[in-house]
Amino acid sequence: MSDLLSRARAYEAEHLPAVPSALLPCFHVTAGVGWLNDPNGFSLYRGEYHLFFQYYPYDVHWSDMHWGHVKTRDFIRWEHLPCAMAPDRDYDRKGCFSGSATVLADGRHLLMYTGVSQTDEGERQTQCLAFGDGLDYEKYAGNPVIGAEQLPPGGSPVHFRDPKIWQTDDGFCAVAGNLCADGNGAVLLFKSPDALHWQLAGKVASSDNRFGRMWECPDLFKLDGSDVLLVSPQEVKGDDFSFLYGNTTLCLIGKLGPDNALTRETEQTIDYGLDFYAPQTLLTDDGRRVMIAWMQYWNSVEVRPVQTLPFFGQMTLPRELRVRNGRLIQTPVRELEGYRGAHTAYSGVAVGERTELSGVSGRCIDMTVRVRPRDGASLKRFTVNVAEGEGYVTAVHFTPANSTVLVDRSKSGFPADVMNRKAFPVGNGEAISLRIILDRYSMELFVNDGEQAASFALYAPASADQISFSAVGAAEADVEHYQLEFT
Ligand code: FRU
Repeated sequence: MSDLLSRARAYEAEHLPAVPSALLPCFHVTAGVGWLNDPNGFSLYRGEYHLFFQYYPYDVHWSDMHWGHVKTRDFIRWEHLPCAMAPDRDYDRKGCFSGSATVLADGRHLLMYTGVSQTDEGERQTQCLAFGDGLDYEKYAGNPVIGAEQLPPGGSPVHFRDPKIWQTDDGFCAVAGNLCADGNGAVLLFKSPDALHWQLAGKVASSDNRFGRMWECPDLFKLDGSDVLLVSPQEVKGDDFSFLYGNTTLCLIGKLGPDNALTRETEQTIDYGLDFYAPQTLLTDDGRRVMIAWMQYWNSVEVRPVQTLPFFGQMTLPRELRVRNGRLIQTPVRELEGYRGAHTAYSGVAVGERTELSGVSGRCIDMTVRVRPRDGASLKRFTVNVAEGEGYVTAVHFTPANSTVLVDRSKSGFPADVMNRKAFPVGNGEAISLRIILDRYSMELFVNDGEQAASFALYAPASADQISFSAVGAAEADVEHYQLEFT
């Protein structure tokens, strides 16, 4: 084991907080100690789901990228494992960047990642491998396995990263992001008979001067009869309503042609909140496509309270994906229901100026609110306030007249008023259902049974745990509320 890797493991052994810890989220993955960004290597290996992540153990800021490692049996309760990789070779000295994992026929776990290096020609990004047993990983002696030689003409060797590998009947495929000569971002497809030797097999999609420049962290899979491409573009001109400016996420649904190019049928953002990037998926044994993402926006990483926590960065709750009518549908993994504790339900509550309901409060909850106008009256606005108290509040407003939800987290513990409000379109009925999942540092919102998902980091203190409802006009609500319990 290299000195860099043993140093990281020793540091973790000394500094990782004992679990359960009042500092950590109850069920969202963090590094425990240090910095975390993209999910990597999300895969099912020997009956457990493994998740790696972009990681710098020694500080709460991005730096030399390692791969951190956790695993779980149910996507909810995670166990920290020792750091899996450190940037300890010439070809990855400047960072072990994002990548993915698959399982080989001989039982080994294979990691595929981007090695960043400094060469005489400048910085280079190449695709590399590491083999392991779910705990310890050894980098392949033949690294890198994909380099500038395999790029299409004009493809940037500086921006070529984030391979997502999967197996096919006759070998392996991988997609990776690349910056093209014309300044567009692209997703390239590579094929290999043995995971060691790779050939370019086509360009799946590119930004066509519309969706930013470099395309990061692609994932490509079949779902419900469609081909689905998830990607995280940089330098996007957003539209204030769906796509964020700067780093955003994009889902293209369509059909892959014989040349492996995707014919697009629909384009959409993946998550309408302020904190969601670099999603990655796996397929479970029972056939579910499950996605996890970094619950953070690159452009606001420095907008956080004065650091009192030993970690920065968290993952979303894993979500089950479906495609319905050309749209990506997301619902929290069903395993979450196994952690539902104290239950409070109300039906047909008349909501007026400010309504509090006994038993409806908390910061670690799974709550669904179904709202409609009361007695055919008009409903102008319905609001759910969560994480409320001591001047803090995170508000979810539904305005039927223009079919929007607006989330306002300007009083959620952020030190600056930057990017704290986000509106997005929802189904155009007068009724809506809002499923709100709260953990210590986040709110995830699922609208109309997963038609829209919106993720937000929150920093209101744990004592801000009130929930209230209000309406302009006459509303009626059904509320199904569970405390999530992890004893
Ligand atoms: C996306 C990303 C990836 C890269 C990694 C570096 O968030 O920029 O493209 O591999 O983060 O940490």
